[in-house]
Amino acid sequence: MVLAELSAMADDLLRYRPEFPILERTTYMISNSLGAMPRGVYDSTREFCDIWATRGVCAWEEKWWEMAREVGDEIGAIMNAPPGSVSLQLNVTGCEAVVASCFDFKGPRNKIVYSDMNFPSIMYFWEAQQSRGARVHMVRTDDGIHVPTEGMLHAIDEQTLLVPMSHVVFRSAYIQDAKAIIEKAHRVGAYVVLDCFQSLGTVPVDIQGLNADFAVGGVLKWLCGGAGTSYLYVRPDLGKKLEPKLTGWFAHEHPFDFEIGATRYSDPPYRFMQGTSNVPGFYTALPGLKIIREAGVERIREKSKKMTARLIELADQRGWKVNAPRDPERRGGTVAIDMPNSRDVCQELLKRDVLVDYRPKAGVRFSPHFYNTMEEIDRAIQTVDEILSEMGVAATAR
Ligand SMILES: Cc1ncc(COP(=O)(O)O)c(C=O)c1O
Repeated sequence: MVLAELSAMADDLLRYRPEFPILERTTYMISNSLGAMPRGVYDSTREFCDIWATRGVCAWEEKWWEMAREVGDEIGAIMNAPPGSVSLQLNVTGCEAVVASCFDFKGPRNKIVYSDMNFPSIMYFWEAQQSRGARVHMVRTDDGIHVPTEGMLHAIDEQTLLVPMSHVVFRSAYIQDAKAIIEKAHRVGAYVVLDCFQSLGTVPVDIQGLNADFAVGGVLKWLCGGAGTSYLYVRPDLGKKLEPKLTGWFAHEHPFDFEIGATRYSDPPYRFMQGTSNVPGFYTALPGLKIIREAGVERIREKSKKMTARLIELADQRGWKVNAPRDPERRGGTVAIDMPNSRDVCQELLKRDVLVDYRPKAGVRFSPHFYNTMEEIDRAIQTVDEILSEMGVAATAR
């Protein structure tokens, strides 16, 4: 792509900058952890307060009950999920629990396959299911960046029940070959739970194209939607027949009949919900979802690739260790850089309003999003230079 073309495209996405107040006072490069708050959240949370204040309990019937479906559909639209297939949950770990509760682990098909690059919370959850009969098979990886597809394919066999895998790995932003893994899982009768937390919003996800059985994630990172709203997509044909045991009255066919005894499941998305949902979280989620949809993930991705390439170029020039895939097609939105004293450097960056984070075995994670500029990338790295020079670490710049 020629330079002029790129800057025109980048400029177009930069028209969203004024929508994010924090960009006026910080170099915000931590969208892998918490996306910047859209200005529209002030109005949408006021809307929540207004309806609560003026309509009280009537708000459930007039707005809040159906809102769970509407927000689920907004998220679904970004991943090409059909309407009604995405339920809202509180967090991703809870989404895994809902999926787990659809199965039992008593039979020979009780193996759970994932790699050691999975998000730890997911591992903690599945490890804990071993006391309920699940058998965890962890695929070991060696370079802290990639997950060898072959290793995953080899581990998935006729005894495998579920494969809870990250689409984009949180530690290195490696994009796993979800299609190949899903195809293998299906060939042997296993299901895949695709964790899209680090992909949706910055890497295009076509959940029907991938034919994933389940997809999970939250809105607070790349979707700029705040905490407390996570999503669980269930493939529509499965959604009709699975019966989650982690359930409650929201999942009942006639919740307001308050029948006693066993439940009668409603259809998705409510079928996969439990009790009263986090309504304020729906309101904080909507403005970010609207902007991401309008901006378009394909365009966000094109810009993201350029920004992460620039980060790598700058790190290479300085001889710092880059813990991210070199292949742009396999690299998500984050570049982890392990420069000298990286934990302390991260603390100093935060003090200087360059917002990033640090993870052991990864380094300082830089996660630019569509609202960042190329100049900010250069400025962030120059700030690292200044910090290292103040620390007395000799510059190795070439
Ligand atoms: C890929 C991935 N999965 C899951 C989680 C944790 O999700 P939750 O806190 O919603 O359970 C994170 C958090 O950073 C993540 O990056």
